Amino acid sequence: MSAPPKIFQQIEKLRDEIRKHDFQYYVLNEPLISDYEYDRRYRQLADLESRYPQLVTPDSPTQRVGGEPTKEFPTVTHSSPMLSLSNTYSEGEMREFNRRVRTILGEDPYEYVCELKLDGVAVNLKYEGGLFVQGATRGDGVMGDDITPNLKTIRSIPLRLFTEETALLNIEARGEVFMNKLDFEALNAEQKKRGEKLFANPRNATAGTLKQQDPRVVASRPLRIYLYYLSYSSEEEQFHYDDLKTLGKLGLPVNQNFRLCGNIDEVIEFCREWEPRRDDLPYEIDGVVVKINSIPQHQVLGSTAKSPRWAMAYKFKAREAETILKGISLQVGRTGAVTPVAELEPVRLAGSTIHRATLHNEEEIARKDFRVGDTVVLKKGGDVIPKVSEVVLKKRLPGTVPFQMPKTCPVCGGPLIKPEGEIISRCENLSCPAQVQRRIEHFASRGAMDIEGLGTAIVEQLIENNLIRDFSDPYFLEADDLIPLERMAEKSADNLIRAIEKSKERPFEKVLFALGIRFVGATVARVIARHFGSMDRLKSATCEELEAVYEIGPRIARSVVEFFQNEVNLKVIERLAKAGVRMAAEDEEIPAPKGIFAGKTFVLTGRLAGFTREEASEIIHNEGGQVISSVSKKTDFVLAGEEPGSKYKKAKKLGVKIIDEEEFENLIMTNKMRE
Ligand code: IVH
Repeated sequence: MSAPPKIFQQIEKLRDEIRKHDFQYYVLNEPLISDYEYDRRYRQLADLESRYPQLVTPDSPTQRVGGEPTKEFPTVTHSSPMLSLSNTYSEGEMREFNRRVRTILGEDPYEYVCELKLDGVAVNLKYEGGLFVQGATRGDGVMGDDITPNLKTIRSIPLRLFTEETALLNIEARGEVFMNKLDFEALNAEQKKRGEKLFANPRNATAGTLKQQDPRVVASRPLRIYLYYLSYSSEEEQFHYDDLKTLGKLGLPVNQNFRLCGNIDEVIEFCREWEPRRDDLPYEIDGVVVKINSIPQHQVLGSTAKSPRWAMAYKFKAREAETILKGISLQVGRTGAVTPVAELEPVRLAGSTIHRATLHNEEEIARKDFRVGDTVVLKKGGDVIPKVSEVVLKKRLPGTVPFQMPKTCPVCGGPLIKPEGEIISRCENLSCPAQVQRRIEHFASRGAMDIEGLGTAIVEQLIENNLIRDFSDPYFLEADDLIPLERMAEKSADNLIRAIEKSKERPFEKVLFALGIRFVGATVARVIARHFGSMDRLKSATCEELEAVYEIGPRIARSVVEFFQNEVNLKVIERLAKAGVRMAAEDEEIPAPKGIFAGKTFVLTGRLAGFTREEASEIIHNEGGQVISSVSKKTDFVLAGEEPGSKYKKAKKLGVKIIDEEEFENLIMTNKMRE
């Protein structure tokens, strides 16, 4: 059906209105109309567009959530590298930074702009002809992921800029995507209700959301954005301060807490002012970003490989609170390691209430002289885990005594052993209920067999009721066994049985990880699974055979061999096999490796100048290759650095292709350019 011009006008009018109200609501936080009125316009527009699909344009407000889920994000090369910032925690270093600027700029006068350092995820937005055409993550600074469909769902990002000015139609803006603290808490509550994974903090929630492959999921999450950097081609002399204003005029959200400062004293004043105010803000900030105002001076000051010399981040100190150490309890892990835990008088710190915190080991407690009854300082740094940092000695009460590690396990009463030279005490009783419990929890955890519903509380009940003793037992449970348990309805019993059944499909590498062999984390488990291919082959592997695998050292090798020497372990594995849990990788579909080194094997020898060995291996892995430890005819490349060893000679003899560091770099670079 061809559309009458009247319809076209009506559609455009509705779009303009909706754009304006989006801006009022999402950017200015000042809605002019009710949700009802807004929805009415939106529905009217969606209705007209469905009747006249030929009139749908990519910048229509209805087009925010679209497209099919992507398997992988395309890679984009940034038009200029997305640098990070040098950090400092001290005013002294801020003054030092100012002196360096002064030295380089000489007599030229200069000013600073101070902004809040938002704690989120950096992105780059690209507009062409005024339309939002691409949004990307920072990635490694040079290349990032194209996450345009995900960013389009953020309602404060205009799909079309509010300008007709030619110079401003083609721009790039950089900024931070983040989540408000309250929105984050609501999201986590929702996640919990659905039995989904909880996010550690708003930044992780944001990062996790932007990585989602389905834009519909992203649209359902409360993401926001503030832009803090504009690049566009203009001949005129420019100031960063004006750029911030311009971003705002274009309809892009800009955090309004920025200030022009004439000198470093004013900068420091800004930092001092905001540090105590951070908790009053609805979003997380972790410092202040200080930038030279004049853009031409940015050019004069230049950048190092990682960060510009015209900017500096002043990071706030970790947040802290004082509380009372009420007791020190002991936690027994799945390998029997005993960790002392601080039982604290509950205290609010950076948005959550802290009851407990690890004290790591008895040496740490002795060094810091933590005693039950002490007033201690609790700190929460950039990460989420609170740390008991020190005791407030002047508040120590008389009668406190130094902590003494008990000689017996608090759970099973068995002896605690601390081998010479080690700092961790262990309960060596493999059937210690705490260990059994932890081992089963680990077995069922998301990264291992991923058995939904088999969490701490249920495992505890099952053990108490003698229904399970090791992690093979869940496979022989029936719904009727479960129903009599407390808080277990028929439906949840069925669900659990189904989840256990489903875990039999987990790949061999996850099964291996789930066994909880000491030092065999998820990555090592994958390496071993790929290399040995089956439980039978692994069972009979010797230390030498294991150590021949590139990533495996003697410590891991010994641990694996010892694990398979233990009769009890072998019995459990036998039962797992009988239940139908995967015991080999052979019949699995392992996704074909991708990248320039897909399917290729490398041996490294000699000293590399530009990379550590770990870095080189990581690049090879990321490009789909494998690093092995010894050269054979089947080896594809030997990467030889300075003073290569016997592997080099062997490669020569066997005619294996030898490349030096430069050739290696060239291979990577040419590939990147092709992209
Ligand atoms: S400017 C070349 N301004 O901090 C300068 N960055 O450690 C680029 N950040 O990757 C950064 N708030 O993700 C700038 N007002 C702000 C910022 C900010 C947060 C983040 C950004 C950057 C990181 C640097």
